Amino acid sequence: MTSPIAHFNGQLVPLDQVHISPLDRGFLFGDGVYEVIPAYGGKLLRAHEHFARLQRSMDEIGLSNPYTAEGWVDAVKALLAHHAGDQAVYIQVTRGVPPKRDHVIPKGLAPTVFMMSSPMVNPSREMIDKGVACVSASDFRWHKCHIKSVSLLGNVLARQISADAGATETVLFRDGYLTEAAASNVFVVKDGVVYAAPQDNHILLGITYELLAELAAGGHVQFQIRPVAETLVRVADEIWLSSSTKEVIAVTTLDGKPVGAGVPGPVFKRMHALFQDYKAKLAA
Ligand SMILES: Cc1ncc(COP(=O)(O)O)c(C=O)c1O
Repeated sequence: MTSPIAHFNGQLVPLDQVHISPLDRGFLFGDGVYEVIPAYGGKLLRAHEHFARLQRSMDEIGLSNPYTAEGWVDAVKALLAHHAGDQAVYIQVTRGVPPKRDHVIPKGLAPTVFMMSSPMVNPSREMIDKGVACVSASDFRWHKCHIKSVSLLGNVLARQISADAGATETVLFRDGYLTEAAASNVFVVKDGVVYAAPQDNHILLGITYELLAELAAGGHVQFQIRPVAETLVRVADEIWLSSSTKEVIAVTTLDGKPVGAGVPGPVFKRMHALFQDYKAKLAA
């Protein structure tokens, strides 16, 4: 099988011909940031918001952006020209390759830019109709979860807890409050109102989270952003996960106990329909 085309430092090259230095700070320290952008029918979903978040992540770690937002869009389009069907575009920018390993950030390094694209895998019909199982854990990650950092060990270990339990995600609680899940944002519905965790340093503010908030406002679904106590999560009528690949899916069991009626609820169904409408209009 031929290797898919990837982007490496301004060039389009077969993925298996990308060679990254062992001194790259992304490899040595996880010193870099990333994005994942869905492309439906060749159109990027919320490109502006994804590149704005990439910029915020870079600003947070003091990394200078090698491209303008337009430059990024052009580079992604050039990559997508080599990929048919709905895609998930992965973008990674690391601090680059210093002459030696040193924690201290060297000045003037050229960032390493890597992009690849893979067929988009959205949730199956069964996952949408039946919902998914999740487990919970204490949020043992750092206090800069708002940076979309490639230092994902905390998220990897959190996600593995659910993988080992045969579940889809690990819902995380910090000091008695919901933060997010290992690779998704989490929403709770009680008495018809959707509750979302504050947009602070303890969560990654999902592009899908913001889109759901917008769709809720347009679709007259009550949506409140505020600290969400674990006690509320435990008695929720509905729980959902969101991410660029999962879109929005219902959690029907948490730690083996049914959430609400144990089936995807009415507010989820409304939100899922609003999301699918939005997506259909984008690809049209
Ligand atoms: C920790 C975490 N939170 C939230 C999200 C959802 O973000 P988005 O909707 O932008 O995909 C992700 C996505 O990968 C994530 O890794």
